Amino acid sequence: KQRVLSGIQPSGKLTLGNYIGAMRNFVALQHEHECFFMVVDLHAITVPQEPAALREQSEAVAALFVAAGIDPSQASIFMQSHVTQHAELGWLLTTLSYMGELERMTQFKDKSAGKDAIGAGLFVYPSLMAADILLYDANLVPVGDDQKQHLELTRDLAGRFNHRFGETLTIPEPYIPKVGARIMSLDDASKKMSKSNPNVGSYIALLDSPDDIRKKISRAKTDLGREVEYDPQNKPEISNLMSIFAQCTGQSLEDIRQAYEGQGYGAFKKDLAEAVVAALEPIQSKYADIRSSGAIHDILKDGAVRAREVAEATLSRVKDAMGFLPAR
Ligand code: TYM
Repeated sequence: KQRVLSGIQPSGKLTLGNYIGAMRNFVALQHEHECFFMVVDLHAITVPQEPAALREQSEAVAALFVAAGIDPSQASIFMQSHVTQHAELGWLLTTLSYMGELERMTQFKDKSAGKDAIGAGLFVYPSLMAADILLYDANLVPVGDDQKQHLELTRDLAGRFNHRFGETLTIPEPYIPKVGARIMSLDDASKKMSKSNPNVGSYIALLDSPDDIRKKISRAKTDLGREVEYDPQNKPEISNLMSIFAQCTGQSLEDIRQAYEGQGYGAFKKDLAEAVVAALEPIQSKYADIRSSGAIHDILKDGAVRAREVAEATLSRVKDAMGFLPAR
């Protein structure tokens, strides 16, 4: 059995991009592997967070994990901050990380661009992410395309650790879907769909109402011409909408092209909106049930117990290898 670990930040609302690129694969992997899925609150605070909002978003993301189909009896669902080993191994790996490699991270470059007060946490974010993964000896890490570079750094840090201190850490592999790993913005297909975009029309949140979804899709940018064709080079906007359609319905891009041949963008967008509404409807109703039941607290408690057991063992192996005097 392989180990799987992944995390999602509780910052803002989760989008259709998070679902298609990551969460859906969490659900798919849970039956065959030993899975750990966490809400990475320690990562969220690398940019300023309002305490009340952080608390609410954390619970919301944990509930969305379950609503999306993660079964807490199959996979451990927990808060990163409930397992203190993350912060501790994060520090140990920070001491092994080079300024140069951290400076090269595109997420750091994007988030720090144009700011004159850049939080140090933003800079060492990837070392903490490496700790998240390495603590569980994860073999597979399901993520969207934008996390590839962080995974590469995680592999480098694990290799560096093993080289310096002896075989201790498992080198993980990214698990990136062939289609849907990069869902783009509805207002600009050159940018990824992101919950931190100030234009709410640029993304579909998993908890958007059906009417909001219809409105956002009807206003989504389209390319010149009127043919529904998959051509990311020349028709990036329509191609992105087609991928979303394909992901929500299971149809192939070619089926979609044929179905809308000669009909123009209007008919396609109408059906796309309904396909997204239908895909999110079961998640939204399950979400409402979980939030009102209060069950998430027990799920998180349980998940943290299971996670801690594994994390503790790895951390003591690491500290031992590095030469820390054991506490008696
Ligand atoms: P985060 O919270 O930004 O995003 C969560 C997951 O969603 C994927 N994703 C997308 N996939 C396709 N299209 C999009 N437009 C899109 N937007 C986001 C992301 O690739 C990610 O898989 N650093 C991570 C959180 C993290 C983590 C970890 C992940 C912390 N520790 C350990 C894996 C393992 C992040 O910021 O994800």
